Amino acid sequence: KSVRGPVNVREFEHAARDALDPVFYDYFASGAQDEVTTAANEAAFRRLCLVPRVLRGLGPPGLETTVLGHRTSMPLLMAPTAFHRLAHPGAELATARAAAGAGVVMIAAMLATTAIEEVAGEARKVDENAALWFQLYVQPDLGFTEAVVRRAEAAGCTALVVTVDSPALGRNERGDRNGFHDLPPGMRCENLREIGGDVRGVVLSPEISWRHLDWLRGITGLPIVLKGVLHPEDARLAVRRGVDGLIVSNHGGRQLDTTPASIDRLPVIADAVGGEIPLVLDGGVRRGTDVVKALALGASAAAVGRPVLWGLAVDGEDGVARVLSLLRAELVNALTLCGCDSPLSVPRDLVVEGGGR
Ligand code: FNR
Repeated sequence: KSVRGPVNVREFEHAARDALDPVFYDYFASGAQDEVTTAANEAAFRRLCLVPRVLRGLGPPGLETTVLGHRTSMPLLMAPTAFHRLAHPGAELATARAAAGAGVVMIAAMLATTAIEEVAGEARKVDENAALWFQLYVQPDLGFTEAVVRRAEAAGCTALVVTVDSPALGRNERGDRNGFHDLPPGMRCENLREIGGDVRGVVLSPEISWRHLDWLRGITGLPIVLKGVLHPEDARLAVRRGVDGLIVSNHGGRQLDTTPASIDRLPVIADAVGGEIPLVLDGGVRRGTDVVKALALGASAAAVGRPVLWGLAVDGEDGVARVLSLLRAELVNALTLCGCDSPLSVPRDLVVEGGGR
């Protein structure tokens, strides 16, 4: 083993596998059923090629950009992932410190094992302007959903990310095989705690519809981002309904298996929204070059799910910070080699299909 620790996200994954209880590793790594989509997400990035421009003399690239009006130190967000306490005792507090320290937006998961108020407080200790968005699964009990939204607002979250690809839980067969269906004793979804102190179970309901989105729009002034849109018609409907942004995502392949790689859906979604609202791409982003491909194909930023969990599992806050700084360095290098000086100046024709024109 190297004394210097992992030098890229792939090596972080291997180190995390060594560090984690195999049942928890499987929970983080797995996708639904045959994991076709989980594998496709990464494979698609490998199939896409970058065609650099030369002699542009632009100097070193800056990475700062804005997403939904939030300044971020680079066009990379932390996707919402559940149950950080399974990865490391520092849990979401460690992740939040690393995100704030790196100046990136953390999308805190509703199914976090730490209450949103504590996550926000911890992020602000590092940077009082730390950007935190809150991921929501709309619950059929609208009164309870509203109470969760009010907590996120009061904690200072500045956007709501509504996950719409989960009218039911995806079929996770590694979990079935491992008999992993509940959090271990002592861990809870603290954002689902009721005033009386009981913790509810999350309800993923096929009854959730555009009507619920309209309701949500009516009860909160926060920008609303839909996460999990893959069809251009849904993207158009979202724009028409006044949605503020989209995350083009297949949930890391954990929901419906055999959906296309999310990066392969980005161009058609970008065409459908025509620049009216910002797009974020997640699924299989493991390298700075992957982020550049997402920018070229129409995203304002990319997001990472598992890479953050690997960093957390390996070394808590420091591990997450290291993953983010590796990706940052890779992104600087990739933009420079492509002849681009900013995330906003990545042209569409930088990306071709393998062997393409
Ligand atoms: C997720 N993801 C997710 N998404 C969401 O909206 N709410 C959630 O609670 C979770 N939980 C979750 C747990 C774990 C262990 C993983 C790996 C993922 C999906 C996540 O936000 C994102 O879409 C994917 O993780 C992106 O793919 P990569 O970066 O993991 O390949």
